Amino acid sequence: MTAASSLRSKDLLGTENLSAEEIGLILDTAESMRPIGERAIKKVPALRGRMVVNLFFESSTRTRFSFETAEKWLSADALSFAAKGSSVEKGESLLDTARNLQAMAPDLIVIRHSCPGVPHFLARNLRAGVVNAGDGAHEHPTQALLDALTIRRRFGRLEALRVVIAGDITHSRVARSNIWLLTRMGASVVVCAPPTLLPPRIEEMGVEATNDFDGALAGADVVMMLRMQLERQGTSFFPSTREYFKRYGLTAARLALARPEAVVMHPGPMNRGVEISSDVADSPRSLILEQVSNGVAVRMAVLYLLLTGHSWDGEPA
Ligand code: CP
Repeated sequence: MTAASSLRSKDLLGTENLSAEEIGLILDTAESMRPIGERAIKKVPALRGRMVVNLFFESSTRTRFSFETAEKWLSADALSFAAKGSSVEKGESLLDTARNLQAMAPDLIVIRHSCPGVPHFLARNLRAGVVNAGDGAHEHPTQALLDALTIRRRFGRLEALRVVIAGDITHSRVARSNIWLLTRMGASVVVCAPPTLLPPRIEEMGVEATNDFDGALAGADVVMMLRMQLERQGTSFFPSTREYFKRYGLTAARLALARPEAVVMHPGPMNRGVEISSDVADSPRSLILEQVSNGVAVRMAVLYLLLTGHSWDGEPA
């Protein structure tokens, strides 16, 4: 694989259309930016004078604060917008909101919205670059990139790893973005869920699909658990959370079915006792908080690459 030296677009809308070279460039850039977060003074002037607007129409802890941290560490001017308390509550449309913010000349807009396709709509209608921070059940590209960085740091590669993604696949933007990214990078992806939470024909995305969690775990290098997304489920997809945990919850006994060096991941927020037990979530095999730390590095890389159009050669002297 030849490393790309830039991204092809002004926007990062998903992983579906990212090439292996672009993914490699983002991960390598994130890797070289990680040390910034380990210093006493966590700031470099790389994006001084650039303005980023964080436009969050849906709740977030990790993604929003991670982008804000990345923007501050790179010295960008960051403005954060939450729909609650804004003129959206007076009925202002999404496009009018975005156009008014654009009139203040931001260079980049980071958007999270419950409606799939909103980042793509803004990217078509705004001069500023757009980063998708999660659009409904569609994509969450920076989550998949930080997951990939976390896996690559642990195993030194993504190729030929068996990654089991288990849980509410149907409603998961994290699953979709991870499937596209990991399969493109040569990992072997298995998705596992009850029949009601597994989209039909998902095998067409290049994954193995199963309802048998114990069987899926055999030989797994990475076990990525997904949150039960009750807010996106209009109806009940399983009899009870107790029943779900019994069949699909990751416990220490189940994890023993995976490879001895297998790691556990979760994008958060976790439902402890529903998809994962606390002893597994807090165990030494859990990379869950490492994922959060790597999220800042990945978002620094994405912001830098989109805003400067070239690769990171390290901090200017
Ligand atoms: N992983 C993730 O997207 O978490 P938040 O919803 O807290 O941003």
